[in-house]
Amino acid sequence: MTPRHVLVAYGSKNGSTAEIAQWIGEALRERNLETDVLPADEVDDLAPYDAVVLGSGLYAGHWRREATRLARRRRRQLRRLPVWLFSSGPLDLSADEHDIPPAPRVARIAAHLDAREHITFGGSLTDHAQGFIARQLLQQGKGGDFRNRERIRRWAHTVADELVTAPLSI
Ligand SMILES: Cc1cc2nc3c(=O)[nH]c(=O)nc-3n(C[C@H](O)[C@H](O)[C@H](O)COP(=O)(O)O)c2cc1C
Repeated sequence: MTPRHVLVAYGSKNGSTAEIAQWIGEALRERNLETDVLPADEVDDLAPYDAVVLGSGLYAGHWRREATRLARRRRRQLRRLPVWLFSSGPLDLSADEHDIPPAPRVARIAAHLDAREHITFGGSLTDHAQGFIARQLLQQGKGGDFRNRERIRRWAHTVADELVTAPLSI
């Protein structure tokens, strides 16, 4: 059987969501899925892909523009593919303790794309983060890395499992 080809696309300002996307890519490859991991603004063509995982870091309740733009630009193609979404943001352990629903704007993207699922992962804010508010949050002691690599890996495995049992889009 031809291996299924998955795109993991992401929006990231300070790099932590980019790393989550890489971890998702590794976990999908562990399940023998051919996987490309790309910044959302470098995605040209969705034709080679059988499924898409799209995610972004959250900023004031919004995804990064490159991720929302990809969702809008490629809406028609994405609606025909199995699509999973993730957000990364909370700077505490809340994302591990209970399901955090998508921010309203992200919920709208999920509806527009007819996404299979959305999940929220903990975020990360560390000393190299750019921006005035980021520095303020760090000064207030609100930084830290709240990403749970094992949870991310487990979720990616559920995506892979669903994908291999899902019918391919035509
Ligand atoms: C200015 C600013 C606004 C943020 N807004 C949110 C938010 O609305 N919701 C949330 O859960 N996290 C929020 N965060 C936390 C970020 O989403 C978190 O640091 C994330 O991991 C950043 O992803 P990135 O490193 O890929 O850019 C915010 C952080 C900053 C610096």
